Amino acid sequence: MRIDIITVLPELLKGPLDQSIIKRAQQKGIAEIVIHNLRDYTTNKHKTVDDYSFGGDAGMVMMIEPIDRAISALKAERNYDEIIYTSPDGVKYNQKEANKLATFKNIIILCGHYKGIDQRIREHLITKEISIGDYVLTGGELAAAIIVDSVVRLIPGTISDETSALTDSFQDNLLAPPVYTRPSEYKGWKVPDVLLSGNFKEIEKWKEEQSYERTKRLRPDLLDED
Ligand code: ADE
Repeated sequence: MRIDIITVLPELLKGPLDQSIIKRAQQKGIAEIVIHNLRDYTTNKHKTVDDYSFGGDAGMVMMIEPIDRAISALKAERNYDEIIYTSPDGVKYNQKEANKLATFKNIIILCGHYKGIDQRIREHLITKEISIGDYVLTGGELAAAIIVDSVVRLIPGTISDETSALTDSFQDNLLAPPVYTRPSEYKGWKVPDVLLSGNFKEIEKWKEEQSYERTKRLRPDLLDED
């Protein structure tokens, strides 16, 4: 899978995407993540990417031209399954959407900044708007990093234990059961007996019950989702 990210702050994205599992996915050729500096697509001397908003609202707006030039240059090279804009007024991101994005071949993520982007970009160039939650970040870079991280780890081959991404919280709309490791007792705090029993069937049953109970208690809204 190839992910192109368009941003005014490339440095903010490089760090989070150059570590551990996501770094290895890139080294293995499973994911190609290319970060583009929007300023490279400007034609003016000062590499300006924003301007005052019509109507006099406070705050700067990202201009059409550099974004159009950046997206057009990428589209001339390959077809894209989705051109995403990260914004607090997008559709709220979840595991279902991550699963869907992980099946795509090429996507672009445009990171928003300032007061937002000229509405015409959203209408004519963007195919999907994603919010990572009901709070406002200073820019879309951290949102893009979250989307990329959650998608790349789902691509087959990224995580060595193939089943582990499938047993995450939220797959099947359930939270994951609690996990334990050695020692089986610490300061009198015990691991549930069933996990030490060696009875595989009982263990599976316990995990399912725990998943369901935790979901019902902590995130009942998930049980209503399809
Ligand atoms: N940019 C600013 N806030 C955001 C959010 N909550 N989700 C996605 N992009 C954003």
